[in-house]
Amino acid sequence: MPEPVSLLLDCDTGIDDALALAYLCSQPHVELVAVSSTPGNVDVEQVARNNLALLELCGRPDVPVAIGARTPLRIPLVTTPETHGPQGIGYAELPEPRSNVQPRDAVELWIEAARARPGELTALLTAPLTTFALALRAEPRLPELLRGVVIMGGSYYYQGNTTPTAEWNTHVDPHAAAEVFAAYSGMPEERLPVVCALETTERIEMRPDHLEALAREAGCAEPELVLPGQPEGQRSTASNVLIRHLSDMLRFYFEFHRAYDQGYIAHVHDYFAAAVAAGTARYGTRTGTVHVETEAPKLIGTTVADYRGLWGEAPNARIVSENHPEEAFAELIRSVGRLARQLGQLGAGR
Ligand code: RIB
Ligand code: CA
Repeated sequence: MPEPVSLLLDCDTGIDDALALAYLCSQPHVELVAVSSTPGNVDVEQVARNNLALLELCGRPDVPVAIGARTPLRIPLVTTPETHGPQGIGYAELPEPRSNVQPRDAVELWIEAARARPGELTALLTAPLTTFALALRAEPRLPELLRGVVIMGGSYYYQGNTTPTAEWNTHVDPHAAAEVFAAYSGMPEERLPVVCALETTERIEMRPDHLEALAREAGCAEPELVLPGQPEGQRSTASNVLIRHLSDMLRFYFEFHRAYDQGYIAHVHDYFAAAVAAGTARYGTRTGTVHVETEAPKLIGTTVADYRGLWGEAPNARIVSENHPEEAFAELIRSVGRLARQLGQLGAGR
């Protein structure tokens, strides 16, 4: 059993955020202190609704869900319904959540939690960094108060997925990303954010056979076959509720990646970041100084890392440089399959 981890998660739930959330709910050693919602894949009201519905689906209605930022710091919000679907969860139709969003703003909730438990909480950020930047503005001591930070964001010496050079999260809010990395400049290396970026998260490439294995692990009566030759939008009939919803999400994601010539696969970026935060993924990092471009129109949101001190600026990140995809999928299948099976036996979910 890995060391206990107490997480503050900020996400823009989307399909890979949803998989990350389900994974975290499957980890007995992970305390989900709070889930905050930031706009990105879809607008923040939809993100919050997805978070509430997913936590209930995963048997965790007790986890508080809050709303942080509603728009990027300086530029208009751009969402991506073509990537994650109009509601951010592909073809899945989650039941209306019974619980409500916390009345308090996520920034206030994060700062109160970090001050109450100094050195204990890890921040996992799988959305544009808007809410986290606002929290750092409100409490500049946050880097000292948090035990650690894991960010899914950026692309270093690797093609972007939003513009030729920019990754989605840093492109949606480049100013927030720049503020977050600036806040960590010069911190001791062991306190620098661990950054999961496209050059390693695109190695976490989910295939239909991974989904089939997940459904089998969950005890589904029939093989869960989501295949490129099937009609687009075909709905799952899996006997297990969690598998059925995840399958409907992932089919949309497979179709999106195929439409953009990446094959009938799904890059599940946020799941990998969640496993890093949970301490259940092996990985290596390189320490560097990250710059986020906020001015040049064609390069806005682009991230560059100086690994050699050429800029003469203190490091502000530990960027993941190696990971182990098949181990990561074995862990996902084992863990989320077990959770789905347990929920199925409890008759949970709708
Ligand atoms: O670029 C991938 C990231 O952008 C992931 O976090 C995905 O959910 C989207 O938010
Ligand atoms: Ca995300």
